[in-house]
Amino acid sequence: MASSSIPSTIPKTVGVLGGGRMGAGIAHAFLVSGATVTVVERDDDAAAGALERVTSAVGKSVERGTVTETREQLEARLAVSTDYAAFAGCDLVVEAVPEDFDLKVSALTRVEEQLGGTAWLASNTSSLSVSDLADKLARPERFCGLHFFNPVPASTLIEVVLGRQTSEELAALAPAWVKDLGKTPVVVNDAPGFASSRLGVAIALEAMRMVEEGVASAEDIDNAMVLGYKHPTGPLKTTDIVGLDVRLGISEYLASTLGPRFEPPQILRDKVARGELGRKSGKGFYDWS
Ligand SMILES: NC(=O)c1ccc[n+]([C@@H]2O[C@H](COP(=O)([O-])OP(=O)(O)OC[C@H]3O[C@@H](n4cnc5c(N)ncnc54)[C@H](O)[C@@H]3O)[C@@H](O)[C@H]2O)c1
Repeated sequence: MASSSIPSTIPKTVGVLGGGRMGAGIAHAFLVSGATVTVVERDDDAAAGALERVTSAVGKSVERGTVTETREQLEARLAVSTDYAAFAGCDLVVEAVPEDFDLKVSALTRVEEQLGGTAWLASNTSSLSVSDLADKLARPERFCGLHFFNPVPASTLIEVVLGRQTSEELAALAPAWVKDLGKTPVVVNDAPGFASSRLGVAIALEAMRMVEEGVASAEDIDNAMVLGYKHPTGPLKTTDIVGLDVRLGISEYLASTLGPRFEPPQILRDKVARGELGRKSGKGFYDWS
């Protein structure tokens, strides 16, 4: 992983809106790559949680020896705030608030008001239309999707999602940032589910229908993909890790935009209704208790 002494395209000052699971990982990725990072959260409790998540990830990087800087040096470049004004002067802000179009529009427009005309803005949305979000912004050409994967430190993929309005300059710059974060960019023109969610969810929904029809057990279906196709984790275990409620939301969205082939199977709806949300609730397609 890069350190602050290595020249890179990484913007010097980076803001992250929402320091939850993804936002904390994104903040950590830019921090260990040399940026000064400001995380903005919605209230003091959430800010304390965000600080804990980022500093704990920093501590792990130091322990593993994947960074050349000390914990103190890294944490000296990190600030957490509840005030959007803390983004003033940022070169780039990445938004990582929950997956809700209206929430994201309100958050992004508030962030944009704090930024100078040369700053870049990105969303970590995993399924919403980057072009539709851009339509609500004053400078849509300076906006794109940066779809990080979970957990951010262990994942080497970032989808760069280009909206209809994304400028050529940003289309060239964003993949360079991704490479300087030590990750691999996949560039996708804005389309529902981008590349990763669309394909990942398509396979998972088919796997769920196979469980529903009694074709094979969850373990055997997953093993078919792991052993037969070299997937690191099967589609049903991945669904448990992502969260069944999250996958239900994405498949409903894809069904509404791409057609009935993405309609959620009944087994998915039933499990979510019973609170079987996967690893986080202790049960999904597997028992995690
Ligand atoms: N979890 C995943 O596996 C994953 C993977 C890729 C992309 N994403 C996307 O990343 C985004 C965030 O997901 P997450 O899993 O990190 O969610 P999360 O719930 O863990 O984090 C969201 C954070 O945003 C904060 N927040 C909410 N409203 C806010 C506001 N108005 N201002 C500032 N902060 C606010 C919350 O306090 C919370 O800490 C979503 O768009 C999601 O689709 C998630």
